Amino acid sequence: MALTGVIDRLKNTNLEEIGVSFSLADLMRDLKVEGNNVYIKLFSPSEKYHEYLKEKTEKTLKSIGAENVEVEFTSEPPKQQQQPPQPPPQQNPFESRRRIPGVKKVIAVASGKGGVGKSTVAVNLAAALKKKGYSVGYLDADMYGPSGPTMLGAKDKQVVATPDNKLIAPEAHGIKMMSIGLLLPSEDTPVIWRGPVLFKALSQFLFDINWGEELDFLIIDLPPGTGDVQITLGQTAEIDGAVIVTTPQDVALIDVKKGIQMFNEVQIPVIGIVENMSYFVCPDTGKKYEIFGKSKTEDVAKQYGTELLGKIPIEPKVAEFSDLGIPVVLAKEDAQSTQAFMEVAEKLIKKLSEQ
Ligand SMILES: Nc1ncnc2c1ncn2[C@@H]1O[C@H](COP(=O)(O)OP(=O)(O)OP(=O)(O)O)[C@@H](O)[C@H]1O
Ligand SMILES: [Mg+2]
Repeated sequence: MALTGVIDRLKNTNLEEIGVSFSLADLMRDLKVEGNNVYIKLFSPSEKYHEYLKEKTEKTLKSIGAENVEVEFTSEPPKQQQQPPQPPPQQNPFESRRRIPGVKKVIAVASGKGGVGKSTVAVNLAAALKKKGYSVGYLDADMYGPSGPTMLGAKDKQVVATPDNKLIAPEAHGIKMMSIGLLLPSEDTPVIWRGPVLFKALSQFLFDINWGEELDFLIIDLPPGTGDVQITLGQTAEIDGAVIVTTPQDVALIDVKKGIQMFNEVQIPVIGIVENMSYFVCPDTGKKYEIFGKSKTEDVAKQYGTELLGKIPIEPKVAEFSDLGIPVVLAKEDAQSTQAFMEVAEKLIKKLSEQ
């Protein structure tokens, strides 16, 4: 076996299962390769992870042809490094996560790709849960492109603060809500925050909102993609689960995979996938058309160990009522999308109760 091949393999073996962002190669302090026999010394100050690291190393190296793998541990920090790596548990960036006050269950609605209907799904899920009798909040965490105020008809809602500087969430259609859109002087005001200011604002949104009575569910509408907002959320707040929204096309599904991987990395359980714009039912003939082709979402969900929570049809009423500021679930009882959203909400409640 070639030494470089062994090192490359170790570099590509991440340790995210124990919540750290480095690879096996980062822990390596000594390595000898003789034929197919490998001796490796790993840095690990805590015995707690020895068994895991030993097994992981053996499995990794045997997969590339090693016959005997001898693993030793050292707790001595490397001499050349001034700051020795911390033991894995202390490096876990998720240990400082806090629960969002005043909320029982927190659900993040995300998508790998923009424009797939994430906000529509988030708002209608909130409405569906409300319709089922739960107390619900909606947090628009899309700091650069908030659509919550439009979709919930809340553009004119005033936000006031409590004496201890908590923003009081106004209510729209019985749903408590907060969006950066409510705090900007006008809809056209661009948000030009950069890193630290964005984090501060997001942190305030997560922890300094007064939601009134305790919420059964808080739905967080995320911006598209796998960027800073998602990572900050994962590192600072305890999220009970993520729902990933997609459309049936392959290009959107590629991004679903990225989304699932990101949530795995930030240790947020993926509750399931909602496929939006799945099909269109012709109102004249009742015939169903799969406009974007045959869906593969269910296969992808299975492949990644999650499930398809439901398929939402393309229905002009969804967009019409959205623009009017009323979620279709509350506006049109008999719409097919309403039925589909109610079913997704039911599955969601069931899955959360099994956690
Ligand atoms: N099932 C549907 N039927 C008809 N129109 C829909 C449906 N779902 C979403 N739309 C429309 O598609 C547009 C995009 O939806 P939406 O804003 O919810 O997407 P998004 O994923 O949140 O976008 P962004 O990535 O910009 O945040 C909106 O005009 C919305 O009304
Ligand atoms: Mg959106």
